[in-house]
Amino acid sequence: MKKVITYGTYDLFHWGHLRLLERAKELGDYLIVGLSTDEFNSLKNKNSVDSYEKRKQVLETLDLVDEIIPEENWEQKIEDVKTHQVDIFVMGDDWEGKFDYLNEYCEVIYLSRTEGISTTQIKKEMFD
Ligand code: CTP
Repeated sequence: MKKVITYGTYDLFHWGHLRLLERAKELGDYLIVGLSTDEFNSLKNKNSVDSYEKRKQVLETLDLVDEIIPEENWEQKIEDVKTHQVDIFVMGDDWEGKFDYLNEYCEVIYLSRTEGISTTQIKKEMFD
């Protein structure tokens, strides 16, 4: 079984998120999402509208997501890949090159972002 892992905040879940997860799942048989915790988001100055629990509940409704693990820091990825016996690490190409160090442990693939939508943009439209 081919295992794929990807990470993100997935706040105010949108079409770009869905397309990323669909393409990630197509690369293998089992998709793990490392979901950024509220504490980790604060650290990144990226406070989410929805709490970790709410964001997790949304992802849990998707059949294509097989497992959700917390993303609590920048350093955990090597350990996650080893622990979960991950074959492919996937991120959107806004992260191009940033996780190439994982090539030592699994295949690293950057997928093109969906144009014209982001949580930042939705937040702007909601709150500005
Ligand atoms: N993503 C994507 N296309 C978009 C938005 C996001 O493919 N239009 C991907 C990102 O590249 C990442 C994953 O979805 O791999 C989760 O992204 P996240 O940062 O949670 O969402 P964004 O909408 O990019 O949020 P923000 O604007 O706060 O950065």
